[in-house]
Amino acid sequence: MEGGRRVLSNVIHSQVDLHQEFGGVVPELAARDHLERLPHLLDLALEKAGVQPSDIDLLAVTRGPGLVGCLLVGVGVGEGLATAWAKPLTGVNHLWGHIYAAMLTRPDLEPPLLGLVVSGAHSDLVRMPQHGRFEVIGRTRDDAAGEAFDKAARMLGLGYPGGPALDRLARTGDARRQPLPKPSLPGLEFSFSGLKTALLYRLRDLGADAGAQEKADLAAAFERSVVESLLEKLDEALSKGPVSEVVVAGGVAANTLLRRRAAEVVADRARLTMPPLELCTDNAAMIAAAGFFAGTQQAPTVDPSLGWD
Ligand code: KG4
Ligand code: ZN
Repeated sequence: MEGGRRVLSNVIHSQVDLHQEFGGVVPELAARDHLERLPHLLDLALEKAGVQPSDIDLLAVTRGPGLVGCLLVGVGVGEGLATAWAKPLTGVNHLWGHIYAAMLTRPDLEPPLLGLVVSGAHSDLVRMPQHGRFEVIGRTRDDAAGEAFDKAARMLGLGYPGGPALDRLARTGDARRQPLPKPSLPGLEFSFSGLKTALLYRLRDLGADAGAQEKADLAAAFERSVVESLLEKLDEALSKGPVSEVVVAGGVAANTLLRRRAAEVVADRARLTMPPLELCTDNAAMIAAAGFFAGTQQAPTVDPSLGWD
């Protein structure tokens, strides 16, 4: 990254092939693969960016949340490079990265902003009053949106990775033919486990009648319930006070329906930024940007219960 906003190179090694036969991420394999792939990825990133280690001013690494084995490998490599190259290293929270992906998308985007971060493990509504400061105002009581999509995809026989497969299947279905309940808790909390159970029972009731079209309709209904539930709370947060910038980010922000409906819900009440698909799902550029803006700032101490420290 140059200046926190310009991506010089952003290389990704996908582990989809590695985990596919197991139907989900195997933590041990994931960590080992990080260790094996990182040295080459680093060389590639430097080569593509056309920079030498001596050009680098700051290294950034994800320090959490995530799979502990993978985090250990990343932090170990980061610390090794920082020592070998005599460069400062900053640890960033993975979720900051998802918000900072939006800053790469719109170079003029600045806090204060309201964010909805939806990933495999998080569904968080957050206020970001300034760089490096995040106040979580809503989260999930049980499953995260991405996790719910992945589990629903598995029930529908779509395999791994589930979210994108469910998205594709939903495009051929009609949610009205197999309506599912829309979770709605008071306040800004999310809950997706009841919806997951509703899908399970519906599939059980349909039994052998659950053909390709029924499954597509169920995928569409499940997607609609998750998306409308997420946006209901975003809408509520928006109506609580003036906000001029809204960011919707994280892997689930790659979802077709969420992208369309978020634009409709936010409409002209604020400016909405959703990173392009390749910056929604996990990537290194967003971590570098977060390190540039947030890792070096002395953010005012936040109550840890508000999260994202
Ligand atoms: O942010 P991310 O890449 O990794 C985590 O930090 O977890 O998010 C991954 C999640 C997975 O649950 C994946 O199924 C979901 O994002 N996802 C999608 C779509 N693309 C990725 N969910 C719904 N529709 C999509 N198009
Ligand atoms: Zn993520």
